[in-house]
Amino acid sequence: MEVLGIDVGFGFTKAINNKKSVIFKSVIGDSTDIQFKSNLGEKSSSSNLHVTIGDRAFFIGNFAEQQSNVRQYTLDQDKLMSDFLKVLALTATGICCDDTASINVVSGLPVGYLKQDYKRFTEIISGHHNVTFHRQDGEDITKSIYIHKVQMMPQPVGSIFNLLMDEKGNIINKDLSHQKIGVVDIGFRTTDFTIFDNLHYIERGSVTMDTGISKSFGIIANKLRQESGVTIELYRLYKAVETGYIKIKGKEFNISNLRDRVYAHSASALAGDINRLWSEEWDIDAIILTGGGSVELAKHLEPLIDGNVLPIDKNTDARLNNVKGYMKFGKYKWGSDLTATGGPDLTPKDLPSETEKNDDSNGTSGAADPKINGNDPKAQKNLKWLKKQG
Ligand SMILES: Nc1ncnc2c1ncn2[C@@H]1O[C@H](COP(=O)(O)OP(=O)(O)OP(=O)(O)O)[C@@H](O)[C@H]1O
Ligand SMILES: [Mg+2]
Repeated sequence: MEVLGIDVGFGFTKAINNKKSVIFKSVIGDSTDIQFKSNLGEKSSSSNLHVTIGDRAFFIGNFAEQQSNVRQYTLDQDKLMSDFLKVLALTATGICCDDTASINVVSGLPVGYLKQDYKRFTEIISGHHNVTFHRQDGEDITKSIYIHKVQMMPQPVGSIFNLLMDEKGNIINKDLSHQKIGVVDIGFRTTDFTIFDNLHYIERGSVTMDTGISKSFGIIANKLRQESGVTIELYRLYKAVETGYIKIKGKEFNISNLRDRVYAHSASALAGDINRLWSEEWDIDAIILTGGGSVELAKHLEPLIDGNVLPIDKNTDARLNNVKGYMKFGKYKWGSDLTATGGPDLTPKDLPSETEKNDDSNGTSGAADPKINGNDPKAQKNLKWLKKQG
């Protein structure tokens, strides 16, 4: 049994375990018969993703973008759950796991959708699945995956656990465990706001807003459509927005000024949201900016936020902060020896606990004594109230 963190975002799907991590665009396409396969170019585990799940074959991520006739991405939560979650989550799982894998998963949902969707999420990914990877050299590899338990949490909480714990799930950041922290997770579609106080999740002040980076991308795409007549899907704009240039039908467009203005405007609206939302939370010790969107927006946001904003770590990929935290929490909960079945539950009382396939109870099985791991006793004490009730 091993622990896997999975984050199926509107922009990117991420997963990480002991051995591997993977990130690819949350884009799915039909599989087409490619007459000539070149083995040149990209050869990472997330390139040339061609999978069969159930009785359907898909191209995933960049490969779908390049090769599929029909490509799909979504900015709709319901559609993400019904049409994308299973394929994206199982593809990421298959990349990270051995040919036969028995795993427990930690994942998250936007704060505003957690109560609504956590059961559905768990049902969709739990149990046994076969995922076949069709390699470029013609070989097919089928991975047999059994997902036993699924622990869900509000997405930004993953970023807190990432800062709080080491790879084995030991609490190492004692300051953080005694503070009141605000987290702003800027993703592709959503911006999630969460407050964590002495390791307690505070529902008040934790919300999801539709103010992710895709709003800015939408404005840039509109402008480009006016100038070039071409409608560009938002997931094809990452590189252009990053570099400031895009070539459409041979003509180069410089979008760096537009991008900077759009980002500055978006950051100012977001800072307004933060200051309004947390106006009564004046005792917040620190504010953490996370999610891929924070990389670009931080420089505009920091001066506008009332409070102590922690500097962004430029050496790590902020898109992975949540999923790294999910994995660490899984280690904390289920034990880094990977055989333990219990651990303290950090899930707040009014949020879902871990659920297990074929679990006939109320989905709260698996609790056991806290794993001490040499952790700060005070932090452990603070976590105690979060242990499963009943
Ligand atoms: N190397 C990179 N490549 C592409 N995008 C990047 C990169 N680094 C940062 N970004 C930014 O990351 C954003 C996506 O962030 P993230 O992966 O956290 O979103 P998501 O989790 O998929 O979305 P959501 O939380 O709304 O579901 C992009 O919109 C882009 O602005
Ligand atoms: Mg996200």
